[in-house]
Amino acid sequence: MLRLFKSASSTSLHSNIGLVSSATPFSSFQRRFFSLESLKQKTKNQKLINWVEEQAKLCQPDKIYVCDGSEEEYTGFCNDMIKAGVLTKLNSKRPNSYLARSDPGDVARVESRTYICTKNKEDAGPNNNWVDPKEMKQTLKPLFSGSMKGRTMYVMPFSMGPLGSPISHIGVQVTDSPFVVCNMRIMTRMGQDVLKALDNGADFVECLHTVGAPLAPGVEDSKWPCNSTKYIVHYPEDRAIASFGSGYGGNALLGKKCFSLRIASSMAKKDGWLAEHMLILGITNPKGEKRYIAAAFPSACGKTNLAMMLPTIPGWKIETIGDDIAWMKFGSDGRLYAINPENGMFGVAPGTSASSNPNALETISRNSIFTNVALTPDNDVWWEGLGPAPAKAIDWTGRDWTPSSGRPAAHPNSRFTAPMSQCPSVDPSWSNPKGVPISAIIFGGRRSSTIPLVYQAFDWKHGTFMGASTASELTAAAEGTLGALRHDPFAMLPFCGYNMADYFDHWLSMENRTNKTSNLPKIFYVNWFRKNKQGKFLWPGFGENSRVLKWIFERCAAKGEEGAEVTPIGYIPSNGSLDLNGLDISKDSMRELFTIEKKEWLNDLQSMKKYVAQFGDRLPKEISNQMNELEKRLNDDN
Ligand code: GTP
Ligand code: SPV
Ligand code: MN
Repeated sequence: MLRLFKSASSTSLHSNIGLVSSATPFSSFQRRFFSLESLKQKTKNQKLINWVEEQAKLCQPDKIYVCDGSEEEYTGFCNDMIKAGVLTKLNSKRPNSYLARSDPGDVARVESRTYICTKNKEDAGPNNNWVDPKEMKQTLKPLFSGSMKGRTMYVMPFSMGPLGSPISHIGVQVTDSPFVVCNMRIMTRMGQDVLKALDNGADFVECLHTVGAPLAPGVEDSKWPCNSTKYIVHYPEDRAIASFGSGYGGNALLGKKCFSLRIASSMAKKDGWLAEHMLILGITNPKGEKRYIAAAFPSACGKTNLAMMLPTIPGWKIETIGDDIAWMKFGSDGRLYAINPENGMFGVAPGTSASSNPNALETISRNSIFTNVALTPDNDVWWEGLGPAPAKAIDWTGRDWTPSSGRPAAHPNSRFTAPMSQCPSVDPSWSNPKGVPISAIIFGGRRSSTIPLVYQAFDWKHGTFMGASTASELTAAAEGTLGALRHDPFAMLPFCGYNMADYFDHWLSMENRTNKTSNLPKIFYVNWFRKNKQGKFLWPGFGENSRVLKWIFERCAAKGEEGAEVTPIGYIPSNGSLDLNGLDISKDSMRELFTIEKKEWLNDLQSMKKYVAQFGDRLPKEISNQMNELEKRLNDDN
């Protein structure tokens, strides 16, 4: 094999790739692997051929396989992984579904190992880890060199968004993990059709991924190969990604956070659109009027749940477009149109139950992959919050578990991967290439105090400020101290591919990009997580959040202060305008949910001022102006 990689010519690459070493047994399925030559037969896109060849020379896989995205291919990989002990097939009540357990050191996104490599440090901003791109490439070269030895390099052409949509974009990921391939097939539109689109000269984002665990001949593979050294690297100026050492979620499924948020946000800045960490839902009132709403909450703060909730108020309907990411571009009418660039859900398992999120449970009833949840004796999955605990189980670490084990059976960031099309509440327009027009944007976070259940911005500038002011208590979706409050502007702190101050400016610029400011969505802020003095949630949440959505829906068409009361922080529902019919909640709780404590707000404002000071001169004047205005309104209020 070594001889192969000394030669730069693709013919020698071809003549060697596809050889099966006698030390490694391969199934008949795997024997059909194609070489680079077959990529050349499949596409005329020379940039693609060159790029794949370059990655192969660097990573030195035993073989190259171009994914066609078919079901047969998917099932083949799953069967191979079952044989290798990587996947456990679940019982037939959950058809075509699998469980995987990750390495205990590879369970969430690694923000401290995530880099934005722009020529100028200031362009990445203080919100990102930065290294000069040339230096980073030097650092990564020895790591990627030979990193796929003993493995296959899978080539996945994928589209984020419906193929052919003017809002969609294409990527190509190479990876040495069949587990990643199977997840990407659910999460993106992957395979043959995208390869065809690339033939017509479409550009693509380069996504290089390795688990960073080359396999020596004759050595048994680990169940979850990964490397304790991890790098999640983005080159926005080249529209390229290089991810090393992890097989988990956003670290490895490069279409998701790396492409659809970090690279896409930087593309969006340049080209005048928005790439956001937002769910998209459709809401229809009893009269049949429908609006679309997008909402940005930080990781594990309720996007998936809100996107597919069952409303408790009679006659209202919620339909799901997306649960994590929204791309929005202006239509010719000056309105923002959104697509969900993803094809599936990578949702948090713990807390998901028939009562909290029945639509999610139905979505994951088949064709799903579960990672780091518990396995029950009858080969089904279980996690904390799903329902009564099984008498015994195998926990996410593979150890025997009982309810008295004193540790959770499922990892707090355990997740399911499931096709969006299986969601019972999926919107008829979820794959519409035109996207859906957005009427309202909601921001929110996990705040046990200070922030009321809902309030509305006075205008776009104020709304942008509200997005910028988003802060949330940390969850298990990333490394860090659980519960610690951190500023997470627009829920994009871990995902903004450039200087956050420029991102604020980009949001402010939307007013000049539309023909009429009134075409822009109305902006709201919500908090489902406020607690009483006993530490209990004041608001029941989940399906009851439909009451808040109803108020938001009505405010979209309301004139001035209709249904609203003016407060220093924005509009809140006026007395009686939040529909509480049939809800068992005390007057005291409602009062607490809407208390605006001046001292707490001034504290928050101080904290925000300190936070944004790091952006120096780059902070838009309008953000400072908004902070001053809010302070004035709070101080003027009696
Ligand atoms: P990411 O996929 O990490 O981006 O997360 P997400 O924003 O989609 O969060 P998700 O909907 O998966 O919710 C995460 C956790 O918050 C789960 O444990 C939910 O049970 C809990 N949660 C969601 N909505 C509510 C709510 O309205 N009230 C309360 N109390 N908890 C909620
Ligand atoms: C998040 O952390 O916001 C997620 C999960 O949606 S991951 O894909 O791992 O980023
Ligand atoms: Mn997310």
